[in-house]
Amino acid sequence: MTVKIAPSILSADFARLGEEVRAIDAAGCDYVHIDVMDGHFVPNLTIGPMVVKALRPHSAKVFDTHLMIDPVDPYIEAFVKAGSDIVTLHAEAGKHIDRSLQLIKSLGCKAGLSLNPATPESVLEYVLDKLDLILVMSVNPGFGGQSFIPAALEKVKRIKAMIGSRPIEIEVDGGVVPGTAQALAAAGADVLVAGSAVFKTSDYAGNIRALR
Ligand code: DX5
Ligand code: ZN
Repeated sequence: MTVKIAPSILSADFARLGEEVRAIDAAGCDYVHIDVMDGHFVPNLTIGPMVVKALRPHSAKVFDTHLMIDPVDPYIEAFVKAGSDIVTLHAEAGKHIDRSLQLIKSLGCKAGLSLNPATPESVLEYVLDKLDLILVMSVNPGFGGQSFIPAALEKVKRIKAMIGSRPIEIEVDGGVVPGTAQALAAAGADVLVAGSAVFKTSDYAGNIRALR
């Protein structure tokens, strides 16, 4: 099975976001990765639910919303209603991961949990049955264009073993380039997020193909 590619629109032209989403859709992306930052959990500010809602008519692809915000619970419903297909929160944000995951599921949305580079995979153990996706950060979240942290590869392998036969996707986010993509897929990654690697040139289709 070929790996899914989720271009991060963090690296898109924010003045033409609708057009950019249509372009990555036409270029063959699988998911549209939407990086939400609050200037508190991470040192950057990006996109709110209004923008997600405005982008929704531009593509029927999976909207993969990555919440880098703390607190997270007060905003989950807004991001689901805006049209997210998957809502992922960070294990390090908020105090009640189990409750937050239940909230996402109760709204009929897929739920993801993300781990920062220094967070051990053991935090997944008691919520595995509530997860549709596990997002392994291979950079410290906040910015696009950072270098891949190699320890993520080992973490993906361990998480793959933990998941067993559960229908959970493993997604890797940060510094993914064609050179790291193959090893990540071999380690068990199902979805690769790529910001700079997709948007670096106008040949989005070629850049996505190079990552697969
Ligand atoms: C980082 C974001 C990533 C980032 C990836 O906080 O979660 O999605 O945009 O960008 P690249 O692929 O450039 O590292
Ligand atoms: Zn992300």
